[in-house]
Amino acid sequence: TIRAVVRGVGHYLPDRVVENGEFEASLDTSDEWIRARSGIERRHFAAEGQTTSELATRAARAALDDAGMAADDLDAIILATSTADLTFPAAATMVQANLGMTRGFAFDVQAVCAGFVFALANANALIISGQAQRVLVIGAETFSRIMDWTDRGTCVLFGDGAGALVLEAQQGTGTTDDRGILSTDLNSDGRHRDVLYVDGGVSTGHSGYLRMEGREVFRHAIEKLAQTAQTALDKAGLDNGDIDWIVPHQANIRIIQGTAKKMNLPMDHVVVTVQDHGNTSAASIPLALSVGRARGQIKQGDLIVTEAIGGGLAWGAVVLRW
Ligand code: ACO
Repeated sequence: TIRAVVRGVGHYLPDRVVENGEFEASLDTSDEWIRARSGIERRHFAAEGQTTSELATRAARAALDDAGMAADDLDAIILATSTADLTFPAAATMVQANLGMTRGFAFDVQAVCAGFVFALANANALIISGQAQRVLVIGAETFSRIMDWTDRGTCVLFGDGAGALVLEAQQGTGTTDDRGILSTDLNSDGRHRDVLYVDGGVSTGHSGYLRMEGREVFRHAIEKLAQTAQTALDKAGLDNGDIDWIVPHQANIRIIQGTAKKMNLPMDHVVVTVQDHGNTSAASIPLALSVGRARGQIKQGDLIVTEAIGGGLAWGAVVLRW
């Protein structure tokens, strides 16, 4: 059995940190409301002119360093983002050029907040089918560019950042003791388009802003996240008691807590970074993996479940042994 095993992890956050209190000057909101309803305390925003591919490149370099690899060791780059620099080419190809990688292939994946889970599943498919040996998987976003700064229901919730993993093919035994990705579960349901979307795009003629029915997204989130995590565990032949860490998409602490409760896992088995990053969409899971590793929470051999839901709706989970 070929497994896609994690060789390195890294992240990058832009320098500018914005505390909740800074929104009080321009919006009818408060630090207390934002903390209580979302768990968010601060977030990073990219500097003017700083693009998603730049954030992604910095996270990629950190992950390659951690793996002890050079860019030309890679066969592929998959970048999950909804905020690419340009309509085309794919931001992943810009990262490829920035890294000085002259071989292999690079492409973007667009599944909004579930993007990193979708990208991981695609990287796993490339590796286990023999199409690639080493794949760099990145989640990077500049959601600050699609905020309506007059909408207090959305603009206080999101942040910018990037995280990256290097995966490499390794022969496994076919048991759940193997390191690497053990199972994946992907879902989408386009009927829920209107609960979370950007009201513009190339073919509509203007770039648009993020629109969200927060309460409606919340209603779907816990149930769908717990369900996809359970499905992924079932596919791997594992159960909740085997989990060392849930590394969830970091949108809202109440969704994270609700999902952990539904999965019968105490919060000391959950990596939480939402207080410091806000919702960084496709970047939130690789950021949390990198921070969780740096904090000493995630150790080699730990069983990890990542799960995410976002616009589409699109949702999914990946079970992997670090
Ligand atoms: N400050 C103060 N008051 C606010 C703010 C704010 N920033 N935003 C909204 N309010 C008000 C609302 O107007 C509402 O007032 P009303 O009762 O007079 O109408 C009141 O607060 C309560 O609003 P709700 O929307 O019911 O508040 P809720 O407890 O649901 O929290 C939140 C809102 C944080 C958006 C929550 O619903 C949520 O997190 N939903 C999920 C969102 C999510 O996870 N999105 C990301 C998933 S996918 C992706 O990441 C792209």
